[in-house]
Amino acid sequence: MNDERSILNTGLRGVTIATTRISDVDGKAGKLLYRGYLAKELAGKAGFEEIVHLLLFEKLPDKTELEELRSRLINERSLPEGVLAALGAMPKQALPMDVLQAGVAILAAHDADIRKNSQEASIEMGLRLIAKLPAVVAAWERIRNGKPPLEPKAELGHAANFLYLLTEKIPDEETVQFFDTALVLHAEHSFNASTFAAREVASTRAHMYAAVGAAVGSLSGELHGGANTRVMEMLLEIGSAEKIEPYVNEVLETGGKIMGLGHAVYEIDDPRAHILAPMSKRMGEKTGEPKWYEISTQLEQAGKAAFKKRKGNDINVNVDFYSASLYHYMGIPKDLFTPVFAIARIAGWAAHVIEEQFAGAAPKPMLYRPESEYVGNYCGPAECAFVPIDQR
Ligand SMILES: CC(C)(COP(=O)(O)OP(=O)(O)OC[C@H]1O[C@@H](n2cnc3c(N)ncnc32)[C@H](O)[C@@H]1OP(=O)(O)O)[C@@H](O)C(=O)NCCC(=O)NCCS
Repeated sequence: MNDERSILNTGLRGVTIATTRISDVDGKAGKLLYRGYLAKELAGKAGFEEIVHLLLFEKLPDKTELEELRSRLINERSLPEGVLAALGAMPKQALPMDVLQAGVAILAAHDADIRKNSQEASIEMGLRLIAKLPAVVAAWERIRNGKPPLEPKAELGHAANFLYLLTEKIPDEETVQFFDTALVLHAEHSFNASTFAAREVASTRAHMYAAVGAAVGSLSGELHGGANTRVMEMLLEIGSAEKIEPYVNEVLETGGKIMGLGHAVYEIDDPRAHILAPMSKRMGEKTGEPKWYEISTQLEQAGKAAFKKRKGNDINVNVDFYSASLYHYMGIPKDLFTPVFAIARIAGWAAHVIEEQFAGAAPKPMLYRPESEYVGNYCGPAECAFVPIDQR
C-alpha cells in the first residue's frame, strides 16, 4: 500500500492532469474554444479542413495552406488493398465501432512510416487517419451490404466525399454544409474520455495509431460517443409525441438515463446542441419528415422538466441529442452515428497525441500512472496466506 496516495477521486472529475494549447471547455459559461477560437463562431464559417489545419498546425490556414492541406488529404483518401481485404473478411454483423477500431490497427500495419519517431511523421500519420477513417466507415457500410466500396472523388471536399462514399449519391450543397458543420462541432473537446485514452496511450510513447485505436474504443461507449446512436434508438422507440411523457417517466422511474441529456462538464446547455438543432429542423422540413426533430425538441423539454421535478436540479442537452436526428435525415444508418463522430474527432485526437508526444506546454507531459485504493480481497483486507492447491 502506498501511504502517500492522494484523495480517492473516481472518474477524475475536476482533476487537472496536463496543460494543453489545443482547446478549452468552460462548463459554467458553456464555451468551447479550439486553439483560442469559439467553436460556435467557427461552425458554419470555417470548414472541417480548416479546423484540421487549426488543430494540427496551430493556426487557421491561409488560402495556399488550405489548398495544400486539401490535396494532402485527397491523396490519402484511398484504402490499401490489404485493408479492404481485411474489412471484407469481417463478419457482417460486427459492430461498426469494432470494425473501425480494427481498421485503425490494420492501417498501422500498412503505414510504411510507422517506425518513424518525429513530429512530422506523427502529423503525417494523423493526416492519413483523418483522410482514411471516413473511407473505412463508408467501405464497411458497403461491404456489410454486399456492395463493393466506392472510389473517392477528388473533386469533392472531405464532408461531401464521405457522404458520397456512403450513399453513392452526390449530396446537395446544403446537406454538405450541414454535415461539414457537424464535423467541425465534433472535431475537438479537450480531455474527454476518448481523448484522455489517446493521450494516455501516447504517454507510453506508443504510436499515433495505437493511441487512436484506444480512443475509438473509448468513444464507442454509450456514456460517451455511443450516445448518439442510443438517442436515435430512443426516438424510434418513442415514435410519436404522445409517447414522450410516459417514456420519460418510465426511464426516470427505473433509474435509467435519457440519452443525449447530461454532461460531465457543461452546467448549461452544450453550445454545440444549439447549432445542431436548427440544422436538424431544416433537414426535417427538407426531407418532409419533421417528426424526428419535433419529437426531439419535445423530449428535450419533457426530459428536462421531469428531471428537475425528481432531482431538484437542472439537466442539459448535449452534442449527441440533435446530431442523432440530423444524421438520420442525411441517410446515415444509426449504428454509424458513432463512427461518424469518430471521423470528426480524429482531428482532435491527432492534435492531442502530437501534443502529448512532442509539443506539450510546460510542464512536460509524463507517463500517466494514477494510483488506486486497494480495498481488500476475498480473504479480507490483510494479505492472503498462500494455500497449496491440494489443500484448498
Ligand atoms: C454524460 C453523463 C455520463 C454525465 O455524467 P455525470 O455528470 O457524471 O452525472 P452522473 O452520471 O453521475 O449522474 C448524476 C445524476 O444524474 C442522473 N443523470 C445523469 N444524466 C442523466 C440522464 N441523461 N438521464 C437521467 N438521469 C441522468 C444520474 O442517474 C445521477 O442520478 P443519481 O445521483 O440519483 O444517481 C450522464 O449525464 C449521462 O449518462 N448522460 C446520458 C448519456 C449521454 O448522453 N452521453 C453523452 C455525453 S456528451
